Amino acid sequence: MMEPLVSRNPPANKFFLFALFLLGSTLIFGLTGALQYVVPGLLKAQLSFEKVRPLHVTSAVFWIIFSAMGAVYAYLPQRNGKRIFSVRLMNIQFYLFAATILVVLATYVLGIFGGREYWEFHPFLAIPVGLSWIFFMINVFRSVGSFRKLPVYMWMWMTGAAFFLFTFVESYLWLIPYFRSDIVHDMTIQWKSYGSMVGCWNQLIYGSSIYLMDKISGHEKYSYSRIGFALYFLGLFNLMFNWGHHIYTLPTPQFVQYISYGVSMTELILLGRIIWLWKSSLTTARKHYHLFSYRFLLAADVWILLTLVVAIMMSVPAINAYTHGTHITVAHTMGATIGINSFLILAFMFDLFPLKNRISASRFNFAFYAVNISLLVFWIALLTAGVLKAIWQMHHPDIPFAVMMSTLKPAFLIFLAGGVGVAAALGIIIRKIVRYHRAEEDFS
Ligand code: HEM
Repeated sequence: MMEPLVSRNPPANKFFLFALFLLGSTLIFGLTGALQYVVPGLLKAQLSFEKVRPLHVTSAVFWIIFSAMGAVYAYLPQRNGKRIFSVRLMNIQFYLFAATILVVLATYVLGIFGGREYWEFHPFLAIPVGLSWIFFMINVFRSVGSFRKLPVYMWMWMTGAAFFLFTFVESYLWLIPYFRSDIVHDMTIQWKSYGSMVGCWNQLIYGSSIYLMDKISGHEKYSYSRIGFALYFLGLFNLMFNWGHHIYTLPTPQFVQYISYGVSMTELILLGRIIWLWKSSLTTARKHYHLFSYRFLLAADVWILLTLVVAIMMSVPAINAYTHGTHITVAHTMGATIGINSFLILAFMFDLFPLKNRISASRFNFAFYAVNISLLVFWIALLTAGVLKAIWQMHHPDIPFAVMMSTLKPAFLIFLAGGVGVAAALGIIIRKIVRYHRAEEDFS
């Protein structure tokens, strides 16, 4: 069932290449932001932190989204043994979407905003994003074909594709005065939609992970398993009924917050368990044959565990009161988007771009361990800065902000050093994949 299509340079590759460009941009602006922590006021006139942060975060979000779409576009035809429903529609979607993201980044550099946190671009640019997502949805649903006896990852892909559009539209309800007029409603919808959007891209990524794990094992154990479907239904519940931790500080019923937080953590526990069970069932030969993807899947498993520890702590209301608005939240978000999302995506890329003969084992090992160790340093430094800021917020508000920030400097320096390590190691991987792709293009 899972034989790759005979194509040296599949049309879905462009999604990954653009995603890698966005990863490069994420790293450059991330490092610039970290430098601005250490040298306040750096580049203030040309590229202030108010511009650098959205440049970094938007690049990061779309690095994940483009890779998630690329994985679905690559794995769907592989699974079905035939082309995607419409390659032309896919190409139109790609160019429309990619051009819009380039415009978004350019508007940030020029200082043109108009959106809200995480989606700071002008709401007008949401139109082509939404339109290209409709094209994606059509292609996914038409390519799946019949709904009978589908493996769990197909349900995940369809759910992620359909709900993203819904929640993306929802995140713009604030444009209508009725929703904007009540601040609590407005913020609840806003954060709920953000949480759901993350849930949607997770459906695309977790689905592709289950597909990849079964592909590596050579059977369909998890594609139809109870635990796979449990993960799917929990994810579905989660993206419909929101992520409670985003609305902790709002006066909404507490039981909603606890249920939704519990669900999002159970979802991570299930994914972690699937990867763990899968690892134990794999033969040495298969591990070795798919070594690079295997390693990144396991690394994601370790980061699921670390993310869970912080998430469980943050879900305790007394602790949440401290962590709110500190770098602990940033550590949590970046730990999850790098350690879980990005590592799973790299596992897909190492599967779809077979680099095994093009990157030496020692070079790969270096990049792999460097990215993990640097990320750990980076993450611990952020958590430390967060704890120090939390203590200041709750116990020493009399100390001026600038004085408190200067005491965080050592933590920020370590954060910057960890960031350089993460960026350098990911840079090695980006370079290898892009060069591999160029060589394949010359060949075909
Ligand atoms: C794959 C790589 C990366 C991804 C996916 C990523 C993702 C993110 C996300 C989602 C946020 C928003 C956090 C929040 O609002 O809670 C963020 C913020 C940030 N990231 Fe990254 N990041 C990456 C790499 C880096 C690197 C290498 C650095 C450099 C040290 C860095 C520095 C920053 C800074 C300075 C912020 C702003 C935090 C603030 O608002 O105070 N990031 N990143």
